[in-house]
Amino acid sequence: MATINDNYLKLKAGYLFPEIARRVNAFAEAHLEAQIIKLGIGDVTEPLPEACRKAMIEAVAEMGDRSTFKGYGPEQGYGWLREKIATEDFQARGCDVDASEIFISDGSKCDTGNILDIFGKNNKIAVTDPVYPVYVDTNVMAGHTGHVNDKGEYEGLVYLPITAENNFTAEIPSQKVDLIYLCFPNNPTGATATKEYLKNWVDYAKANDAIILFDAAYEAFITDASLPHSIYEIEGARECAIEFRSFSKNAGFTGTRCALTVVPKSLKAKAADGSDVELWKLWNRRQSTKFNGVSYIVQRGAEAVYSEEGKAQVKALVGFYLENAQIICSQLQAAGLQVYGGVNAPYVWVQTPAGLSSWDFFDKLLQTCNVVGTPGSGFGAAGEGYFRISAFNSRENVEEAMKRITEKFKV
Ligand code: MLT
Repeated sequence: MATINDNYLKLKAGYLFPEIARRVNAFAEAHLEAQIIKLGIGDVTEPLPEACRKAMIEAVAEMGDRSTFKGYGPEQGYGWLREKIATEDFQARGCDVDASEIFISDGSKCDTGNILDIFGKNNKIAVTDPVYPVYVDTNVMAGHTGHVNDKGEYEGLVYLPITAENNFTAEIPSQKVDLIYLCFPNNPTGATATKEYLKNWVDYAKANDAIILFDAAYEAFITDASLPHSIYEIEGARECAIEFRSFSKNAGFTGTRCALTVVPKSLKAKAADGSDVELWKLWNRRQSTKFNGVSYIVQRGAEAVYSEEGKAQVKALVGFYLENAQIICSQLQAAGLQVYGGVNAPYVWVQTPAGLSSWDFFDKLLQTCNVVGTPGSGFGAAGEGYFRISAFNSRENVEEAMKRITEKFKV
């Protein structure tokens, strides 16, 4: 009989967001009258920028004409999109990133998981706690961990607590690790990283031959000019970091699907025989074998993000969600709740009131306010006692949700 990948049996029940959806659906079926407002998963609600839609419509027309029709595109993405990204997102900020080092993909969630294909089995892996669950679960699936303990921690992973005491920025580990996942602006806490802070990580990674997997999916939400948008703004990062970016949250592509991963050609790791191998070559080989690229139509839509109209429309979209975040923060603060994040980030990290556990607060909020958020403990043991509220929703829903929460939970 065929056998399975037993590592899947080590995974905790369900992936966080489907588990939330299951609970919400059960509640909705039992309370048909409830007007549920979802501020749980960070899924965008506002329409795609007009510039992107126009570009995609034009691309559809090209696909309908034999002389401009496109079949398979380059697995790495079209050169014109990679060039735009290299110039606008990286070189304009002083980052030494070449277009050939940019790989277009269908999502950062996929890429942060898929990247493990090119790494060995015996790396010591560090994640923050709380953390975006994909980093952990994909390592479990790949057999990089042992079993989970009662706290929800997997044996073999190094957990770096991020708490109010350290401003939700992990301390540099005292032990040697090989792969480190960092996400800034942070999901779930909404914390940001300064250049000085990231420089400490780059120095650590270089001193320990480690690689930083830097998730910058929320960089567009940075409005503070002193904060870095890319790890490559830090000297030395080309020798120790891979960066993930996405069009999901800035341009509303969660359903359209387009992202990118930067693998510098100067980045190396060791083969079993002790030789140094360029990771770019491995990722290029991986993508060429397992991926056929993002659709031409979608890549044209992503390219339009860099047009003058596209830039203005994306700025307005991001600004809209940031205003939501600001409303959430100020209303909850006024009600006496302790909140973090929500500035330079679309997530607000709330301390649960009255010592409620994260899931108890989730249930209470769902039942008494018909509002959905994400329990902090779903992101890791150190998230217990916290709750994430996403700013991705309509203004009307955000205001209504805040009205309901502040009425019930004023402290
Ligand atoms: C989240 O809610 O954490 C995000 O939607 C996750 C994601 O982008 O995959």
